[in-house]
Amino acid sequence: MTCVAIVGTQWGDEGKGKLVDFLTERADMVARYQGGNNAGHTVKFQDKTFILHLIPSGVLRNKVSVIGNGAVVDPASLFAEIDELKNLDIPVEAHLKISNTAHLVMPYHRLFDQLREKVRGDEKVGTTGRGIGPTYTDKVARSGIRLIDLSDPNHFRKRLEAILPEKNCLLRYYFQENKEFSVDEICTEYLGYYEQLEPYLCDTSLLINNAIDQGQNILFEGAQGTFLDVDHGTYPFVTSSNTLSGGICAGCGVGPVKISKVVGIAKAYTTRVGSGPFPTELLDETGEFLRTEGAEFGATTGRPRRCGWFDAVMVRQSVRLNGITSLAITKLDVLDKFESIKIATSYQAPDGRTYTELPPLHNETLTPIYEEHPGWLCPTRHITEYDQLPAALISYLKRISELVNASISLISVGARREETIVPNPNLIWV
Ligand code: GDP
Ligand code: IMO
Ligand code: MG
Repeated sequence: MTCVAIVGTQWGDEGKGKLVDFLTERADMVARYQGGNNAGHTVKFQDKTFILHLIPSGVLRNKVSVIGNGAVVDPASLFAEIDELKNLDIPVEAHLKISNTAHLVMPYHRLFDQLREKVRGDEKVGTTGRGIGPTYTDKVARSGIRLIDLSDPNHFRKRLEAILPEKNCLLRYYFQENKEFSVDEICTEYLGYYEQLEPYLCDTSLLINNAIDQGQNILFEGAQGTFLDVDHGTYPFVTSSNTLSGGICAGCGVGPVKISKVVGIAKAYTTRVGSGPFPTELLDETGEFLRTEGAEFGATTGRPRRCGWFDAVMVRQSVRLNGITSLAITKLDVLDKFESIKIATSYQAPDGRTYTELPPLHNETLTPIYEEHPGWLCPTRHITEYDQLPAALISYLKRISELVNASISLISVGARREETIVPNPNLIWV
């Protein structure tokens, strides 16, 4: 039995979906433990492209797919995702399980997400606008509504009656919006969802722990990335959940000693969508070239992703924060045409101080200190064996591994399932 955590080591979009799908071949169950439909996980095989938002990528290989209690669920968006997958011949109903204690994204969460961004102006987070932040805010403030709360219409109505006056007050007096949320309207809409949701609901902690006891292989599919973690990321430019491997315990109801491996996914360079610090960002034609070669546009919002060189400071920090046992390096093929490639190994502050960790307060511009490596200048997407990789690419990987203190278990040279090289399978499955 192996429980493998798959986590993003940067700011999301590292290729988690691709690698979760790849590894799902040997898994019995795939579980999401945090986040919601702010995620966009792309999987490509045969001639098809799938973008998963809330449903675990394991569903594409017909494995039990679990949305844990730590995730947040927007029912309308979930149904749309289920329908889309069904249209692509994926029998979602047979495999999807959702925690009955996961929190619901409500219409006011989506609206407040957008209105708060408007109020922030230049300081906006650049959220996906899916209501994720306000949903987690309410969860922690004990004003949230869980999926199970829909099972008792009177109880659901009472919760709304208690919660809505405050929302309407904010809407009218703070946001100056000339509208109100109505208990009746939300009851009609959300109670109507319950019949459709009910077949998927269960105690997913019990489900997962039983699977662990039976010796099954389980993947925990992280969403977002380490530096979007609400505790350890580039606060306040973060998402509202614990994206780190540590989030699995609370977000799925699984004890920490059950997690045997933590695979960190890192792009061979760095990207970020939304606002916030990004020391290695390239605002020149090199950044533009990375964006074009890597097709760096958000899978959820379509926004262009900010691009820059690989940041070993961040990924080293990520290895520590997640307890990463091995790394997967993705999108190496995107660097095929570069004559030379840079890696940031530390940063320098304007007063000359050197940083070897990303600082907790982002109040000054940090200049990355780079080392430069020769590119390999040849196509790599067709390569299936580690030994066939160009020497310069192998050196680049070895240097990354050395700088971040982690071995490399997986290499991705293309978006498709088969464009994956596994130099070290023993590092993943026990
Ligand atoms: P996720 O959110 O971490 O699952 O990543 P996304 O799916 O949002 O973004 C990764 C993008 O890169 C997707 O379009 C993938 O199809 C693509 N991708 C993943 N791995 C590779 C790779 O090794 N090479 C190339 N060229 N594209 C890749
Ligand atoms: P995957 O799982 C990249 C970013 C948003 C914004 C910040 C907060 O595909 O890697 P939110 O809507 O969560 O409140 O937005 O987090 N963000 C992501 N960036 N990949 C994601 O998911 C993201 N999910 C949220 O752009 O900066
Ligand atoms: Mg993504």
